[in-house]
Parts: sequence; structure tokens; C-alpha cells
Amino acid sequence: IYMEEPDGSVTPHEAPTDMGLSLMEFLKASEYDILATCGGMALCATCCVDVLEGEDQLNEMTDDEYAMLDTLPDVLPNSRLACQLQLSNNMDGLKVKLHGVS
Ligand code: FES
Repeated sequence: IYMEEPDGSVTPHEAPTDMGLSLMEFLKASEYDILATCGGMALCATCCVDVLEGEDQLNEMTDDEYAMLDTLPDVLPNSRLACQLQLSNNMDGLKVKLHGVS
């Protein structure tokens, strides 16, 4: 997984795919500034990320995720809730940035 940092640089991460972690939990553990206030229930949208590469590798949005994203004023077509993305081998090469961070 590649993270685009606020300064535009890109940090590669090895994410464990065998622990049942979500991308949100992994980013939090990696000390990214991600609030995840609702703890992964698709209710707060503070875990929102923008997918820069590999969007088609991700699981489909659930109605809950879609509905939550829909409440964000600045949502992008490639925005996802990181708590709804379970880490998997399919995510190899995925590139994301925190939503709202330029
Ligand atoms: Fe709240 Fe993802 S942690 S919506």
C-alpha cells in the first residue's frame, strides 16, 4: 500500500493481510492522523481516503458506506471509507491519500 503524504511524497507500506484489519486500523496503527471517531462503523466518515490507484481492486461499497460518503460535502468519486476496506492481497499496489489533505 502506498500513501501519498501531504507534501506529495509517497511512502510504501507493507500491510498485514492475515489479521483481519481494515485499512483504517492499519493507517491508525501507522500513526496517520485519522480520527475514525466511530471506530469503524461507517458512521463518522473521519476515516475517508481518496483512492489514487487500484480502485478496481477494492471491494464494492455497501449501502452504509455509500450513504455515509454521500453526506460529505467534498466527496470525490474515488473517496472511500478506510474502515470498510479490509486489508487483502488484492490491495497490492493500492495508492491512497487521506481525504481532505492536499
Ligand atoms: Fe467512522 Fe470509518 S471509522 S466511518
